[in-house]
Amino acid sequence: MTIIDGKKTAADLRSNLKNEVDNLKKKYNKVPGLTVILIGEYAPSKIYVRNKEKSAVEIGLKSEIIEYPDTIDEKTVLEKISELNKDENVSGILVQLPLPKHINNKKIIDAIDPNKDVDGFHPNNVGNLSSGYESSVPCTPLGCHLLIKKIEPNLNGKKAVILGRSNLNGKPMTQLLLKENCTVTIAHSKTKNLKEECLKADILVVAVGIPKLVKGDWVKKGSIVIDVGINKTDEGIVGDVDFDEVSKIAKAITPVPGGVGPMTIACLLKNTIECFKRSLV
Ligand code: GUN
Repeated sequence: MTIIDGKKTAADLRSNLKNEVDNLKKKYNKVPGLTVILIGEYAPSKIYVRNKEKSAVEIGLKSEIIEYPDTIDEKTVLEKISELNKDENVSGILVQLPLPKHINNKKIIDAIDPNKDVDGFHPNNVGNLSSGYESSVPCTPLGCHLLIKKIEPNLNGKKAVILGRSNLNGKPMTQLLLKENCTVTIAHSKTKNLKEECLKADILVVAVGIPKLVKGDWVKKGSIVIDVGINKTDEGIVGDVDFDEVSKIAKAITPVPGGVGPMTIACLLKNTIECFKRSLV
């Protein structure tokens, strides 16, 4: 059984990206820039955003955080996005979610220039991904995809089951695995016989936000299990998969923490560099 080391894989990816930034700087005398908009006081978002900035700076990107109180009006945020869209020094824009209730998610996401949409949430990017065209790909499924490919480079004909149908992970994950010629089932809270669906999976990706939902008798022997969950519990941070049970059955599994989490940030850096490169052509 392999414990998939997301921390190491992300560190290797960041190291390659740092080299790429150095080369871009030499060639164009310019570095990619990431701007993150953070609204409100939600503590996990603040931690995520600080970590994103730290990682960006470490690999030589320009990084800026624009903070607003949660009383900010939608118009001010939209105006700021419009300004950033026009700013040549900004390669990527990310608005940290969740947003306060009075701010409309869709309006905000739609306002970001699709070419600067490092989250891959803009409908143009969602459409391009599902049509198999070039697009920004959401960071979490992109990270999951890289981890899966490390274990199994050829996914042709594999049966993949994705638990959770969110725009952030489940839906784009489906597209990435379809592109790899997997047979994909997307299961969710209303799916009947969830356990039976999971048992069919060669590749199981779980992102539902329920601590240790997936037990040892839910997974097929020899499967690859990717746990996207990050749940705070009395016993500390745990995933959506019961690691102790499932690690006895699976061929490979991501731990929580240290699995998917570090890959998400590394993939954000990758997307920022990709947006920069696309802006050059
Ligand atoms: N909040 C939690 N995950 C994410 C993410 O990947 N992107 C953004 N913008 N907000 C998030």
